[in-house]
Parts: sequence; C-alpha cells; structure tokens
Amino acid sequence: MSVVGIVPAGGSGERLGADRPKAFVVCAGRPLIEWSLEVLEAVCDRVVVAAPPDWLRPGWVEGGPSRSASVRNALAAAPEARTAVVHDAARPLVTRELVEACVGALMGVDGAIAAARVTDTVKEAHPDGTVLRTLDRARLWAVQTPQVFRAEALRRALEADDATLAAATDDASLVEAAGGTVRLVEAPPGNIKVTTEADLARAEAALC
Ligand code: C5P
Repeated sequence: MSVVGIVPAGGSGERLGADRPKAFVVCAGRPLIEWSLEVLEAVCDRVVVAAPPDWLRPGWVEGGPSRSASVRNALAAAPEARTAVVHDAARPLVTRELVEACVGALMGVDGAIAAARVTDTVKEAHPDGTVLRTLDRARLWAVQTPQVFRAEALRRALEADDATLAAATDDASLVEAAGGTVRLVEAPPGNIKVTTEADLARAEAALC
C-alpha cells in the first residue's frame, strides 16, 4: 500500500509580497517548503511537489492554475498511490504526529483532515456587512492540511472541471461534493498557515 505525499507549492504567494513564490521564501534558514518535506518524507513512501515552472526539481511536476489543479497534477504523477497525503507548503509547522494521526484516522472513510475548533463567534453576513445569522460555534471547525485521502476517492473528486477546482479552497470539499465521507482530526494549535509577513515571522520564531 503506497502512501504518497502531495505538496501543492505552485502558488505565487502575492499576499506575502516576497521576490519569489511563497514556498521558496527562506524561513528559519531554509526554504519554507523544506520544513514540510522533511516531515512528509519521514511518513510517506515518496513525495510529489507541484511547483512553478522556474522552481522545478527532478521528480516534481508543474503546478496548475489553481491549488486543486496543482494537487491533480501531482497526483497524476503518482499512479501507485493508494493513500494520498496532501499538505500545503505554506504550513511549515506540521508535525509527524499530526500526519500519522490523519493517516491512522482514514479507516472506513474517504478522507481524514486536520482541523481546529473555532474559538471566535462566527457570523454570516451580507456583502454590505449586515449580519444575516450567528452560527453555532460548537459545531464549527477551521480546516487545515494535512488532508489524507484514499487516493481513488481524491482522483475521482479531482475529475471536476477547472472552474470547480478553482473555486475549491480545500480538497476535502471536492471529495465531499463527490459523495465521499470525511473525518476531522483535531490539530495542535501551532499548525499555522503562512500567508502574510507576520505569519512568516511567527513561523520563524517557532522553528528557530
Ligand atoms: O494561496 P494559498 O496560501 O491558499 O495556497 C495554499 C497552497 O497552495 C500553497 O502551498 C500554494 O503554493 C499552493 N498553490 C498551488 N497552485 C496554485 C495556487 C496555490 O500549488 N495555483
């Protein structure tokens, strides 16, 4: 049973404002992506990265126009995968324990994904800022990566058209839309995503 790590790193990371794609920005002395690769390589049989054309290394594939299109490209290069461990290069504080917990939770479901309980009260609003309703916080989770799937279920979900892939903010939502069952795995508080310079500084402080 082949476990393949899939790392979408094909984004430009414009919100970070760096001179290179986000995954390759230096964080605590090495490119951001290296932190995730080290953890995934310890758990997976191999790892396929989807990167921008100028940043490819041997065995990597070119990213697509959206995050999920990048995941699709990487998974297509791993036909042997039975389990796919998708993890964003933008989450360098991922731990081996969290990846293993997600892989272990895959029994009997199509996906097992890292998530954190929502601690703020969440409201749904009109575009003009008028509140529509207050949601029940006890049932809300903020979803992260790693997201681990039965590779067959993820392949099927990624057969969606490009517009659907572009609208998806995670892979689990595509698996859910294709009728798959997905389970949450509670993540430790540190598994932050680097989007802004402040996030990068926070990650750097935690990794040094
Ligand atoms: O932009 P955002 O932070 O949501 O991107 C999440 C991850 O998806 C990043 O690791 C980014 O490099 C990746 N991505 C990709 N291909 C794209 C856009 C984003 O692999 N076209």
